[in-house]
This record gives sequence, C-alpha cells and structure tokens, in this order.
Amino acid sequence: MNARGDMPAGIISYFKSWLFLLCAFGISSCKPETQRTFADDVAPIIYEHCSNCHHPGTAAPFSLLTYNDVAKRSLTIKAVVDKRLMPPWPADPEYSHFCDENFLSGEEIKIINEWADQGSAAGDLTNAPRAPEFPSGSLIGKPDLQLHIKPFPVKGINTDQFLVMKIPLELPHDTFIRAIEFVPGSKYVHHVNGHLISFENGNKKNVFEGEFVLDTKNETREDVLRKMQLLNDDGINPLLTIIHPINPCRPPSKNAIASFARSDFEIFLLTRKKTRGMKKTGMNNRAHRR
Ligand code: HEC
Repeated sequence: MNARGDMPAGIISYFKSWLFLLCAFGISSCKPETQRTFADDVAPIIYEHCSNCHHPGTAAPFSLLTYNDVAKRSLTIKAVVDKRLMPPWPADPEYSHFCDENFLSGEEIKIINEWADQGSAAGDLTNAPRAPEFPSGSLIGKPDLQLHIKPFPVKGINTDQFLVMKIPLELPHDTFIRAIEFVPGSKYVHHVNGHLISFENGNKKNVFEGEFVLDTKNETREDVLRKMQLLNDDGINPLLTIIHPINPCRPPSKNAIASFARSDFEIFLLTRKKTRGMKKTGMNNRAHRR
C-alpha cells in the first residue's frame, strides 16, 4: 500500500489547500522561472569562475570558452556545481576568506541549474560577454625571476606519486617577494605545496649540492633533509616559509610517461620593503611532518 493510500482524506485536502495558499500568497515562488540563456546568464559565471582553468594548455580536460563547449556538457556541469566539486574550492567560505578565492554563490548555482534544465539555450550570442584570453605562461605577468624544475620522468602507474623537489636559488641580498606562481609544465602535475627555505648569510656554503628529487614513498623525513642537504652547515634547521599554490589534476594513466619538463616557479619581486608580517616556522614543527 502506498503512503498516500494510508492517509486519511482530511489530510490530503489539507495539503491541497495549503498548496493553494502558497500559490496565492507566495507570488514570487510560483512565477514561471526566468528563461536562462548562455549569453545573458551563464557565460558571465563560466568566464569568471571556470575558464581560468578550462582553456587550452592547462590541466583541465576541456575548454569552457564557447557556447558549444559549455552547452554540450550542461548536465555534467550542473552535476559538478551542485556537488560543489567545481570550481575546486575545499575551503569553507563561511568560515574565512582568501585572496582570489573561487567558489559559486547559491544564486549562481541556481542559474546554472535552471539553464541546464530549460535546455541550455544560447540566447543572443552577439550580446554575450567576450571569452577571456589567457597568456600561455604566467597568469600574473612577466616574472622577475624564473626557476625551472629539472625534467623528471613519472611512471604511468595509475596512481598519485608524491615527490619532494629542491629548486635552489641564491639572491645577492635580502629581497622581498610579492608573489610566487607555480606554472605546471605537464597536465599530470596534480598540486604543489611549497616551502621557502631561507639560509641566513654564512650558514650554508652551497645550496646547489644534494639530490633534487626524491619519492616520499621511499624516504623518511630525515632522509629527505640529509640527501637534499637542506640543513644549515652546522646541522641546525633553517627557517621555513610556507607557500601553497594549488593545481589539481589527475594522475598519469597506466603506461603514460609524463615529465615535469617545463614546470616553473615564477617569482615576482617587491621593490619596497614589506609591510605585512610573515609566518616563519621551524622545520621541526610537527604540523608539517608527513
Ligand atoms: C582550479 C582549476 C579549475 C577550475 C577553477 C574549474 N575546474 Fe573544472 N576541472 C579542473 C580539472 C583539473 C578537472 C579534471 C579533474 C579530474 O579529472 O580529476 C576538471 C574537471 C571538470 C569537469 C569534468 C568532471 C568529470 O567528472 O568528468 C567538469 C564538468 C568541470 N570541470 C566543470 C567546471 C566548471 C563548470 C567550473 C566553474 C564553475 C570549473 N570546472 C572550474 C579544473 C578546474
């Protein structure tokens, strides 16, 4: 017997009149939905929140730059924005805020849903905003310094590999940095957590010696410090500054060979002295152990 069959008649009619009242007084909730179009409603959302990753030459599997790019995936897009899988933003936006944070508002998700459900209309494409254009390297501009990561082959074992890499640099004097940007050179690069290790004058003779890449699966933290020669010459831990550029992607599929060949760190220097406090953490801080 179904639930409705169990219900006394009085309740059913109560529901009916309740629904009726809702329509009579909650006028806006019963108005027919606005007809959503790509040109007027969806393009601005996609261009602001998605195209920065979804354009040629990036880790994202397809571009989201034209009406066709977006319309032919409207149902998948609806599904991933509903679950808040895209844009990838694991931080809780109710709790605190970050520079350049990227997540959709409830209203933006609703617009995408309505558009997909209504059949993904184009609207007047001549009135759509222009698709954004992206430079092929840095998204910030011309860096003052470029650190190239040495090419490193990655086996296609269909699983994530966590590598530690050392990219040494020496500056002639104390230098303040405005921005550090990671530009992945391969679509297999999943993400990067960066630590800036600063050796004070006289504490380290040669920052270029030691291994440059190690697989964390095979090494203890102490091995990494030793083999990469990361400690000061007197064996004391140097100072660490944490940087967190993020770039999500998928691991190389079976048998694929990838490499970090063209990955770079772009460094943008600050000409005036810093005004904001910096967080420095000793390398022995438990929070940063794997
Ligand atoms: C930070 C970069 C980034 C942003 C911003 C981003 N994406 Fe993605 N997106 C990716 C990457 C990388 C993948 C591939 C992930 C994978 O395959 O594991 C992906 C995958 C997808 C997929 C395929 C999911 C699947 O399971 O097949 C869809 C659809 C998608 N994105 C839509 C969007 C939409 C819509 C937005 C904006 C609202 C967006 N993305 C913003 C990086 C991004």
